[in-house]
Amino acid sequence: MRILSIETSCDETSLAIVAQNEAGFMVEKNLVSSQATIHAQYGGVVPEVAAREHAAWIFPLMQELEIPHDGKRIDAIAVTAGPGLVPALRIGVELGKVLAWSWHKPLVAVNHLEGHLYSVWLETPHPPVFPAVCLLVSGGHTELILMKNHGEYQLLGMTRDDAAGEAFDKVAKLLELPYPGGPMISKIALEGDSTMIDFPRPMFDSPNLDFSFSGLKTAVRLCVEEFQHQGTLDPSVRAGIAASFQQAVVDVLVHKTLKAVQQTHPKSVILSGGVSANRLLRETLREKLSMLHSDITFHSPPLAFTGDNAAMIGVAGLIKAKRKEFVDPLSLHADPNMSLTSL
Ligand code: KG4
Ligand code: ZN
Repeated sequence: MRILSIETSCDETSLAIVAQNEAGFMVEKNLVSSQATIHAQYGGVVPEVAAREHAAWIFPLMQELEIPHDGKRIDAIAVTAGPGLVPALRIGVELGKVLAWSWHKPLVAVNHLEGHLYSVWLETPHPPVFPAVCLLVSGGHTELILMKNHGEYQLLGMTRDDAAGEAFDKVAKLLELPYPGGPMISKIALEGDSTMIDFPRPMFDSPNLDFSFSGLKTAVRLCVEEFQHQGTLDPSVRAGIAASFQQAVVDVLVHKTLKAVQQTHPKSVILSGGVSANRLLRETLREKLSMLHSDITFHSPPLAFTGDNAAMIGVAGLIKAKRKEFVDPLSLHADPNMSLTSL
């Protein structure tokens, strides 16, 4: 089975063709047009600008896929229906509806977060085994989810304020680094001493599996202001602040994930979402998990599939299509608050 998938929930316009065969979920094409440099001048994603860019890019990308005009070779269409920015989501949703209706193909509505979870099924002969504890860390979400089976999710914990990626982006702004901040923070952190500042680890010892990052962000702001006041915010201090901040975030994320593992006894652990590109996070979680629970398998997506992409939406779409979870192309709407656990 072969699916055409569409992703426009934030600032990446992406189309993919994913096929399922004996070897697993294979990406035949995955085109991503990023608007990051456009939004960088505003310091964050502007929904109307994102929608305009999606509208400008989606048809050139569609042409690049070289699908015959009658949609031959495509068995179904999957589109991200939420959560995300409504004006942005709508561009992809409307394209999905038009293609499904005119080609007479079944349409699948995919939750963007579900797409991130399924990114670890891409191009691997060894996908996760259920139940799986999933740490989903992106620009908009920080959640611990127990995936009991395909499509069966239980929310274990979530951030009470900022998402982990959002914290990276805001701290980058304080350090005058361009948007998106995550990759820049991790880059300059390589030159810094992660023990330079002992930033707080918010909710580290809380009895639940929730997170909070806004207090940490405030601590970084106060620290930056102090160095600015003294006139000593030089590159090595900035690298030290970045490394210390990154270490604090990683410590909390890894600690809470291991706590979720202790509580739920999964067979696999999944780390996905844009922040899963962070090397320190990947390596720390992988190492600690193998030290403490060598029987539990660890899965994180290939770097090309950590950020937003349509290939991951294709995998989720193929799994839903197999279960005939189709939607009516005439009545599908973008849902900015689409929840994973009420699917
Ligand atoms: O999943 P994603 O591409 O978009 C959303 O669904 O939000 O995640 C984007 C987020 C941004 O906040 C970005 O700064 C962060 O992922 N990110 C990183 C790294 N690469 C991207 N955060 C920390 N370290 C990285 N290497
Ligand atoms: Zn995302």
